[in-house]
Amino acid sequence: MLGQCALYIHFPWCIVKCPYCDFNSHPLKERTDFADYTTALIKDWQSQQANFNLTESFASVFVGGGTPSLFDPKNLHQTLSAMPIAPGAEVTMELNPGTAEYTLFQDTLKAGVNRLSIGAQSFDNHALKRLGRIHRADETVTAFELARKDGFSNINLDIMWGLPGQTVTQAMTDLDTAIALEPDHISWYQLTIEAKTEFSRRTPLLPVDATLAEIEARGLDKLALAGYARYEVSAFTKPGKHCQHNVNYWSFGDYVGIGAGAHGKLSSRQSGTLRVSRTTKFSQPRRYLQSPQVTQKTTVAQDQLPVEFMLNALRQVDGVSLEHFSNATGLPWRTVEDTWEALADRGLVQENQCATTALGLRYLDTIVAEFLV
Ligand SMILES: C[S@@+](CC[C@H](N)C(=O)[O-])C[C@H]1O[C@@H](n2cnc3c(N)ncnc32)[C@H](O)[C@@H]1O
Ligand code: SF4
Repeated sequence: MLGQCALYIHFPWCIVKCPYCDFNSHPLKERTDFADYTTALIKDWQSQQANFNLTESFASVFVGGGTPSLFDPKNLHQTLSAMPIAPGAEVTMELNPGTAEYTLFQDTLKAGVNRLSIGAQSFDNHALKRLGRIHRADETVTAFELARKDGFSNINLDIMWGLPGQTVTQAMTDLDTAIALEPDHISWYQLTIEAKTEFSRRTPLLPVDATLAEIEARGLDKLALAGYARYEVSAFTKPGKHCQHNVNYWSFGDYVGIGAGAHGKLSSRQSGTLRVSRTTKFSQPRRYLQSPQVTQKTTVAQDQLPVEFMLNALRQVDGVSLEHFSNATGLPWRTVEDTWEALADRGLVQENQCATTALGLRYLDTIVAEFLV
């Protein structure tokens, strides 16, 4: 492993599966004791630590799902205590507002979590129902206020836009409501129809392109005016509240992934050459619980590195430096120079920074496709 490293912990259960979601999440039949899952996570970490010779402490941790707010804080505490987390590291946990009744915010803080990411999605009860969410808008507000009162000083709200039948006014009302709560960070995602989800089998009527374009333009203005700086396609922050964990992903940094279906990325030097590997875990919770120490590892082919790097780095509004490309991929800049210059001539990317222009950010897929081999 090279440089700083992050840790992703996956919690694969939800109360119900939302029809748009393609994350590795499985409906939970009843409230369960997650002691076995805790033991598995710790075994998983210990085996990866030994196999990949991991020696650094983690600069950030993200407990994602699924619905990790269903995890008992005592299990969470036990899990986090077994991990080498650097002092002052950002430790985020995702929270579904429909589980706030189970979430003991003070215990979650004591367990080591210092940032919450709340899946609000919308503040319109009809939209929430259409999205198959298990909570109403007022429950999100209550969860947010309780988390603040109990001491969370770093909170993100996830909001989705382009919802079935959504008007520009409704999308703006969602953002106004989110902004009024004064979260530190807002993730504003356009709803995408993912393969193999309920919405891909029975696709709802989505807003037409002109409506989507207006929602996006007016939403970006609104967020900027409210003091939320856009630093990634869908991420907006108050000063200094960037999600460090996600910035590491978008900078093609290393991370260890533990838990059912978790992915990891690790780089190492072998005889002077940088090797980037991807790791995966069994995604079925039952299978994972049986064999948490099994980690599949595949090396990324050298010719795939540019596209993988660009896919991440160019999502950031300011991109990364040209040198960072070489540091993170082990390849000289000249590997991509011709492609880059052709894109710069079209006004899509910057000359001296590995970043898109404002125009290019709108055509990210086209730009990234140029690096496919
Ligand atoms: C792993 S989910 C998160 C958290 C938690 N399970 C919840 O739903 O409240 C992370 C976020 O991705 C976003 N998301 C999930 N599926 C999406 C889709 N198909 N299109 C756009 N955003 C999506 C949602 O905003 C969601 O809160
Ligand atoms: S609660 Fe979150 S992770 Fe679970 S199914 Fe819904 S969107 Fe996916």
